[in-house]
Amino acid sequence: MESTKYSAKPKLYIGIMSGTSVDGIDVVLTKINDNNSQFIAGLSCPFEQTLRNHILELCQTAHCDLQTLGQLTVKLSQHYAQAVQQLVTTHQIDKSQVRAIGCHGQTVLHHPFGQTPFSMQLVNAHVLAAKTGITCITDFRGMDIALQGQGAPLVPMFHQSLFKDTDDNPKLLLNLGGIANLSIITASQLSGFDTGPSNILLDSWMQYKFGKAYDKNGQLSATGQVNKKLLALLLNDPYFSRPVPKSTGREYFNLAWFKAKLAQVNVTISDADIMATLVQLTVISIVDALNQRIDVTLNAHTLYVFGGGCQNHHLMVSLKKLLPHWQVDTTDSIAINSQYMEAMAFAWLGYRCITGQPGNSPSVTGATQQVIMGQITQVIGHKLILGE
Ligand SMILES: Nc1ncnc2c1ncn2[C@@H]1O[C@H](COP(=O)(O)OP(=O)(O)O)[C@@H](O)[C@H]1O
Ligand SMILES: [Mg+2]
Repeated sequence: MESTKYSAKPKLYIGIMSGTSVDGIDVVLTKINDNNSQFIAGLSCPFEQTLRNHILELCQTAHCDLQTLGQLTVKLSQHYAQAVQQLVTTHQIDKSQVRAIGCHGQTVLHHPFGQTPFSMQLVNAHVLAAKTGITCITDFRGMDIALQGQGAPLVPMFHQSLFKDTDDNPKLLLNLGGIANLSIITASQLSGFDTGPSNILLDSWMQYKFGKAYDKNGQLSATGQVNKKLLALLLNDPYFSRPVPKSTGREYFNLAWFKAKLAQVNVTISDADIMATLVQLTVISIVDALNQRIDVTLNAHTLYVFGGGCQNHHLMVSLKKLLPHWQVDTTDSIAINSQYMEAMAFAWLGYRCITGQPGNSPSVTGATQQVIMGQITQVIGHKLILGE
């Protein structure tokens, strides 16, 4: 249920996302009016190799000294600010018209479990606000986790805002980022969860074996055969059958996870076959998760896909094969650039915070209540005004 108490005056918001693939920074400018987002401009800035390696190393080891942590966070934030500046310059945006920046930060550890749950996103909001001159909203996951939620995924509520019709047809959206996540929107319920790995394992194998960031267009995986024994072993991982709410990340699905499974198969498998098997792992875990909620053979629905995995031709073809009666489109068909969906979501979540509206959905995250999400860092010397 969307609130209508806010004025209809449109406002500009910037969203910044850098996801678990650690490929780079996506930044967008959106106009948000009464919870409705309109994409204005976007750009992607790939991480320079050294910065990427530092982030990946931290994700992998979960260890570093405090000086490294502090410096890495500032460096990253400087890059976020540069990305904003590039967007502003390229599109001749008047910064004074930008109400706020919603910045997700870079996840280095997602651990919403046990007695001391947390999710760590690196960003120094002071640096970002000082360098851009724009109020920043960060730490979107913390409050949900403090209220016993997973703090993830956070995009489903934004997805709900994109669909105005209230017919009985479920709206289904799939993110093919480092991790894959689904949003399932029906007239009566909003659900969403991480289905498992999408690009993380594919990218990791390409980096490990060929020193390449990813399998361009799925060219290598398309030449391979799925190894059934390996696939069964991978799918047997307890994450896939775990009930919702659930979320995961690089700390769970990573090269070490995969190598441990591979060692159990005890036969030599070609790189092409390994890549084909990893693609199949991604699509089967997604379709199985869908099938548990909606009989995929009964009704034909549309699945709207976004994230970098949309560029992986073999991944998309494999997904379509498992949903033969469905329409599988990218979100570009609903006027949301598939590359920028998540950055759009964090611009919207920033807006939700500034306008005093909740940013989490307990039916997705498992939190005990809906709450305003995010921390506001005010621009130096500026007067902060909350609300629209
Ligand atoms: N042309 C392409 N071919 C295959 N995969 C691609 C291509 N372009 C992007 N990708 C994949 O998309 C990933 C980035 O997707 P993204 O949505 O930014 O994920 P995240 O949100 O985790 O950062 C890359 O790491 C890569 O795996
Ligand atoms: Mg990315």
